Amino acid sequence: MEILHVSAECYPVAKAGGLGDVVGALPRYINEAGHIAKVVMPMYRTKFLMDNEWEVVHKGGSYMGNWWFEFSVIKEKTNKLGFDLYLLDINGLLDREKVYGYGDDSDRFLAFQIAVLDWVAAWQHHPDVIHVHDYHTGLIPFMLKNCYQYKHISNIPTVLTIHNAQYQGWMGWDYSRKLPSWDPWKWGDLDWQNTINPLASGVKCAWKVTTVSPSYLAELRREANGLENLFEYEKGKCVGILNGIDVKVWDPATDKYIKDHYSIKDVEAGKAKSKMKLCDTFNLDFDKPLIVFIGRLVGEKGAELLPNAIEDAFYYIGRRMCFLMLGSGEPEVEHRLEAMKPMSLNDYNVYLGYNESLAHLMYAGADFLLMPSRVEPCGLNQMYSMRYGTVPMVRKTGGLIDTVKDFGEAGGYGITYNHTAVGDITHGIWRAVELYHNKDKFTEVRNTMMKLDFSWETSVQHYIDVYKNLT
Ligand code: GLC
Repeated sequence: MEILHVSAECYPVAKAGGLGDVVGALPRYINEAGHIAKVVMPMYRTKFLMDNEWEVVHKGGSYMGNWWFEFSVIKEKTNKLGFDLYLLDINGLLDREKVYGYGDDSDRFLAFQIAVLDWVAAWQHHPDVIHVHDYHTGLIPFMLKNCYQYKHISNIPTVLTIHNAQYQGWMGWDYSRKLPSWDPWKWGDLDWQNTINPLASGVKCAWKVTTVSPSYLAELRREANGLENLFEYEKGKCVGILNGIDVKVWDPATDKYIKDHYSIKDVEAGKAKSKMKLCDTFNLDFDKPLIVFIGRLVGEKGAELLPNAIEDAFYYIGRRMCFLMLGSGEPEVEHRLEAMKPMSLNDYNVYLGYNESLAHLMYAGADFLLMPSRVEPCGLNQMYSMRYGTVPMVRKTGGLIDTVKDFGEAGGYGITYNHTAVGDITHGIWRAVELYHNKDKFTEVRNTMMKLDFSWETSVQHYIDVYKNLT
């Protein structure tokens, strides 16, 4: 089978979050399983673009409403990522450095989707499945189904994977004129509460919908930022498939970002070296358990509770642990985390920004990883962390439910709590400190975690089954 993935992100070309990691890995594993997976994404002006060799494979032009634009598709020459990678360029819209965050994002992604379909429509053959990811590509199933100019390829099955249903890409009904002409009777396929909702439209029109964990799918029927009824109604075509992690990139024995490699056999000594490095760099006390946060500093991740939780932990539990925070996001949260630096007694620090290599060092050197997420469709960080022998402290939601079992339960290994609330987080911190000092239990938990298998091999088979059932 030949699968064409259409996505806004793909690591290492361009990544803003977990979506990039997944689209950078899943296609390779599909290829390894004997199929052909390709990825097409916008040609942002990233380092990866400059550092690699490309050939032009297609040039075309399309209308978005009355506006005519030209686009080109280039292909990476050496199969560097283990799959065919195509970048689509539209001058003036996609030739920017960042993935998201521009005032005209709606136009950027709409034009991208139209151009992708115009390109596919010109192929000599057709892919067996078009697999789209999140709202940025959520209008493709609608367009394939209802736009006249794609009639001859409308039999290509579509799969939509939802990595995050909080963002839906809402746009006003004036945008309906920017789509290639379509049968107006089908307006209901675009609409959700009087706006065009690309994610809702994707759920309605895709042949199959997947979410990145089974628990998240169950949750969406109760809490989906306004789309609960839709998920209830469409439950028959939805399935939850847990993400895997790229175990080649995320392996403490070979990780190219860390110097002191280790495996389960020498985990204690191995982690100690990376911890020492972190403690030296960030002025932290090596003898205390090191608790870290790695991620976007936004409400979805429960990040605004971190300052209070840390203060409460110091106050009620005592200064028996160290904290190191890495991330960027809401200015208010960044400011509060930064403002706490002066109160550090070698037990608190923060790095504001995105830093892939520091993240790897933190997974390797930390003892615990905080994830108080309000919403976590799958979550990759807890899986990275467990592979590095770092105990995740997670709120029971979405994919965190499917991947972390509390060490208080038989065979358990992580720390879990019910609510994204300061009290729950601090209680988790107290349990972490106690666990850290219970050496036997701590070692047992570490060993159990490091033996878990979160590789893509299993998940990829579920995707292949989905494709097979459609073709
Ligand atoms: C999004 C979700 C995250 C998930 C990732 C990859 O970033 O927030 O939970 O792991 O996508 O699917």
